[in-house]
Amino acid sequence: MVDSPKQFDFLVLGSGIAGLTFALKVAHTGSVAIITKKSRAESNTNYAQGGIAAVTSEEDSFESHVRDTLAAGGGLCNEEVVRGIIEEGPARIEELIQLGMKFSERESHGHRELDLGREGGHSKRRILHSKDVTGREIERALLAAIGAHKNITVLENHLAIDLITTAKPGQAQHNRCAGVYALNNQTGQIETFTAPGITLATGGCGKVYLYTSNPDIATGDGVAMAYRAGATIANMEFIQFHPTCLYHPEAKSFLISEAVRGEGGELLNLRGQRFMEGVHPLKSLAPRDVVARAIDREMKRSGDDHALLDITHKPARFLMDRFPNIYQTCLRYGIDITKEPIPVVPAAHYQCGGVRVSEHGETDLAGLYAIGEVACTGLHGANRLASNSLLEALVYAHRAAEHVLNHPPESTTGELHKWHSGSATNPDEMVVVAHNWDELRRLMWNYVGVVRTDKRLKRALTRIQNLQEEIQAYYWDFNVTSDLLELRNLATVAELIVRSALERRESRGLHYTMDHPEPVDSLAQQDTLIHRN
Ligand code: SIN
Repeated sequence: MVDSPKQFDFLVLGSGIAGLTFALKVAHTGSVAIITKKSRAESNTNYAQGGIAAVTSEEDSFESHVRDTLAAGGGLCNEEVVRGIIEEGPARIEELIQLGMKFSERESHGHRELDLGREGGHSKRRILHSKDVTGREIERALLAAIGAHKNITVLENHLAIDLITTAKPGQAQHNRCAGVYALNNQTGQIETFTAPGITLATGGCGKVYLYTSNPDIATGDGVAMAYRAGATIANMEFIQFHPTCLYHPEAKSFLISEAVRGEGGELLNLRGQRFMEGVHPLKSLAPRDVVARAIDREMKRSGDDHALLDITHKPARFLMDRFPNIYQTCLRYGIDITKEPIPVVPAAHYQCGGVRVSEHGETDLAGLYAIGEVACTGLHGANRLASNSLLEALVYAHRAAEHVLNHPPESTTGELHKWHSGSATNPDEMVVVAHNWDELRRLMWNYVGVVRTDKRLKRALTRIQNLQEEIQAYYWDFNVTSDLLELRNLATVAELIVRSALERRESRGLHYTMDHPEPVDSLAQQDTLIHRN
């Protein structure tokens, strides 16, 4: 059943740092609906352990942060964007603190100052954090402010299905985004929401891989919807694998923060040998692409199914205080990190590409903004520097809000396309959907992982296309369910990752292929763009 459209001034899809910050910045001018597919706190942000990279200390400089970001980005960052975000960082951090965010502090020469952590690829300590639960504290502060705002409605358990666009066949040049269809998971009904301005803040797509540090919500919904609606998608081949996720049969998606290596944690193989010596001058604290590939190589060379991360040389009291979440969680799995090394494996962690946006977060589909992990701004290039993403989310939420307020999008007049559920009946073969979820994630892990080849990528593409045919048949034949909708989005994102990877005939940053193992100079600064014709 389809209800009549619900109208707002702004629609925000997603309730992480980007979406909530944007909502707070526009809500004084009109009504805002935040559409979120689970509970409001269930976002990628909520699971961020590390923190926010920003220049806040006198020993640091914008120049040094810019240099580190460009070095990690492997020649594909947009330097102007990098500089802009880094220089705007301190102002946005100050706003977050004013809102009630509590960063960890330490005692220094008789006064309190921010405790700055260090992570891979950073030449200075510059990570503002709240122990090892930074994302949870950010969500707490933002949601408290959201809850107090009368103009903001949070619609939980609503999964956005598709963006509503105005184009008629053959009129793509007048296309604009006018709303969204969403599945209300509590009633099973499809609801229609409209607004002149729609902001995607739906996070990334880690669940497209079998092993990921991301929570279940990270199914690439924003990229898939924007692609279907006609927006340009950029650089999807650059998927960041975090080198150290907990390896334990019962631990699902648990990250061992890079901050552990920042505090001196060292990578070892199962024979206790340090294998990062000679790989990179920063050894275990090298940028993530280097560390993840080194672990992958070491595991393949030795046949081991994981590596080890050892921080036992640090005092137990320090570890329990600095990493309470990691300490407690590992202890629950029988691992005392103060006494024994932590078993770790790489896992999909961050999508560096996404919906291509301007410096204000505008996509090339009128009326549609994209901010946070779903967007490709030019900051991360071919490899994101750790903890730069929460900073980018804050800066782009601010810029998109300013832009939309200064350039209010036109309201759409006329009839919008109605949702059609056809002659759908309830699916009785959920086993097919479950099987396809598993098959897709497994093939992405095996064929489109840390190390790639043309042959494996082509094989993956053929399989994905077969799966897409099956998913489409299901989509039209049955009532839609969250599992089916997420699978459809995952398959779209998988296709975009593989097509982008096949297009980049070189190795750069996170995209490493044995068939083209070196970077090609003429491809530096060249984004991989995909657009649905
Ligand atoms: C971490 O804590 O290692 C994650 C930080 C990040 O991905 O930026």
